[in-house]
Amino acid sequence: MSRTSRIPGFYKLPIPERVRVVKEFAGLTDEEAELLGKTGRLGLDVADKMIENVVGTFELPYGVAVNFLINGRDYLVPMVIEEPSVVAGASNAAKWCRDGGGLVSIASEQIMVSQIQVIKVPSPHTAAVRILERKKEILDLANSTNEILVKLGGGARDLEVRVLDSPVGKMVVVHLLVDVRDAMGANIVNTMAEAVAPIIEEASGGRVLLRIVSNLADRRLVKSWARVPKDSIGGEEVVEGIVYAWAFAAADPYRATTHNKGIMNGIIAVALATGQDTRALEAGAHAYAARRGRYEPLSTWEVDGNGDLVGYLELPIAVGTVGGSIRSNPMTRLSLKILGVKTAKELAEVMGAVGLAQNLAALRALATEGIQRGHMKLHARQLALAAGARPDEVDVVAEELVKSGRITLEKAQEILEGLRSRR
Ligand code: MEV
Repeated sequence: MSRTSRIPGFYKLPIPERVRVVKEFAGLTDEEAELLGKTGRLGLDVADKMIENVVGTFELPYGVAVNFLINGRDYLVPMVIEEPSVVAGASNAAKWCRDGGGLVSIASEQIMVSQIQVIKVPSPHTAAVRILERKKEILDLANSTNEILVKLGGGARDLEVRVLDSPVGKMVVVHLLVDVRDAMGANIVNTMAEAVAPIIEEASGGRVLLRIVSNLADRRLVKSWARVPKDSIGGEEVVEGIVYAWAFAAADPYRATTHNKGIMNGIIAVALATGQDTRALEAGAHAYAARRGRYEPLSTWEVDGNGDLVGYLELPIAVGTVGGSIRSNPMTRLSLKILGVKTAKELAEVMGAVGLAQNLAALRALATEGIQRGHMKLHARQLALAAGARPDEVDVVAEELVKSGRITLEKAQEILEGLRSRR
């Protein structure tokens, strides 16, 4: 049988038919194909409305980080992630921060930027002025696309016009600044940008091309801070080690990338649990890390006059607590309820605090025993499961694996066989 991925009308097939096509194409067994068609907590019918060509849903571990005291309030933090040690790390670090009075996290206004690109502008600087002259008209038209947002106190707030030098010559770029309140806001600002494009064309004499949100959400910043008593974290030497670890990241983009990855471990785990656009968050964070023309760590660690450790994190966090994909998934609704957050601003503040705590956990581990010991224990458990260990066998197999010093799937299988033959 010919095997082609050119399948016209795949999207129109009912889900069981799509599963059958995938099964045939990939030579899946009945069991494997069944795994695809199985419904989880997110029903297949809901999933089918969320994206295209759905053949199943996908699960990841859902954990809850404890000990978080943020802005004087206690939070249990849902985290979805495949990586061991992250939830435990966040919980431990939250405890150290709690000993210092808890984390402080402050989000700015929820302003998103929508970009409108104008090309072939005869006189770019004159065009910039002509566009600014019509600011009120442009903002009013943008706001007419979303009366509900305006009623909620949000809406288009301001206009900025830039003249850019590009590889194909000068172009005019208009920024529409929109207070999106509790929405992530991409859809809202994209609609506004499309609506105002004709006025901008008329005013500039050029041609509007792109009308799209910018994921460099630098008007939607979160600043998180914590003081960690030196005795809570293991003494002066550990504090010094963490500052040196941070300084390494400040001096070297190779290290800064991994440093920031550790921060995003926490932020993205909460983002997944609460149904956010994780790619937008990652793109925004890394662009912000490079805002001074060089890739830098998003956090800073220093010692205060008392010898305690002080951490500060600053990054854009564009998230929503309202919106289709968040409300349609029962698990994301549940996460928001567990968190008890009422607004997107509060959710962003929690995420910033989790990012800072996660960074602290990683730096402490790296600057002391290294991360492999803790990691390997959990990795061994995953291998034990992969080798087919039952829940009552997992810990025994994992322990023997770690002791053996050969943490591989083959070794896990060998240990499991041994264990079963001894029983
Ligand atoms: C691993 O997922 C994250 C770390 O690499 C972060 C870091 O190095 O700071 C441990």
